[in-house]
Amino acid sequence: MKGRQRSSDSSLRVRFSGSEHGKAHARWYRIIAEHYDRLYDPRRVTRASAFLRYLFHRHAIGRDVLDVACGTFAIDLPLVKRGYQVVGRDRSEAMIRVARRNLQTAGVTADVDRAEMQSLHLGRRFDALLCLGTAFNYLASSADVHKALRNFRDHIRPKGLLVLDLTNFDAWIQHPNNVRAEVDYRSVDGTKIAIFAFNEQDVRKGIHHARFLTVVQRRHRTDIGFDEAPLRIWKKEELARALRAAGFRPLEWWGDLRLGAKYERSQSPRIVSVSSSR
Ligand SMILES: C[S@@+](CC[C@H](N)C(=O)[O-])C[C@H]1O[C@@H](n2cnc3c(N)ncnc32)[C@H](O)[C@@H]1O
Repeated sequence: MKGRQRSSDSSLRVRFSGSEHGKAHARWYRIIAEHYDRLYDPRRVTRASAFLRYLFHRHAIGRDVLDVACGTFAIDLPLVKRGYQVVGRDRSEAMIRVARRNLQTAGVTADVDRAEMQSLHLGRRFDALLCLGTAFNYLASSADVHKALRNFRDHIRPKGLLVLDLTNFDAWIQHPNNVRAEVDYRSVDGTKIAIFAFNEQDVRKGIHHARFLTVVQRRHRTDIGFDEAPLRIWKKEELARALRAAGFRPLEWWGDLRLGAKYERSQSPRIVSVSSSR
């Protein structure tokens, strides 16, 4: 599938396509963006937002927040409603479109636009910078990681907070969970979405190969898309070293974006690191 676009019209009603090498990300979010907020457990957003407010309060930081992979802005909206000025950036045009619509529906305003973490340049600093929901794992090469961390540092005020939320692939390696029917969803307009994941970890290279078969049925038409993307596997100690080298001081580790979720290497679904900018 890698390296070229495949599409077949072997049937009038079923279309199969594979992402071009390197374009899996954009294609997948284009298909899924409209439905993204309803595909996963809505409690995640409420818990994450409460968790972030707790952190901001405890570390006595101000109200200027930058979310560098804001997606649909779902986690940021409750913060905006509570008086935080959240700026959102994301590389996916489709996700930014939904973020703008979510803002409009909520009757609030925020600066959201397209940008990539590796080339971010807003020319100002924030009290906290968020990178949530596996986005940091998408930076598979060390060069991209360095660029992103340098940009994060340049956008945070001294003593400001960096909150990273990564998938804890350490736990996956110990408890393989690589073949899953991840989503089975029907939207109000009758669109049916099923997502099957079949992943693999290359432990030696520290890469998780995320592979998805996404099936979307709209009335009598079915689109089947195959996408794969390399995600970087981070261990806590390795992440702590990278953060220190980039000018951050790791302060806390959590096992999920919710209050009380202790980090446990072989169990936690997430690695959430909270660091301060030196
Ligand atoms: C799984 S979604 C999470 C969205 C949101 N942060 C959340 O937690 O609900 C990952 C998001 O990261 C964005 N993303 C991935 N790589 C990125 C990059 N290099 N720069 C900016 N955004 C990126 C994707 O477009 C997508 O919207």
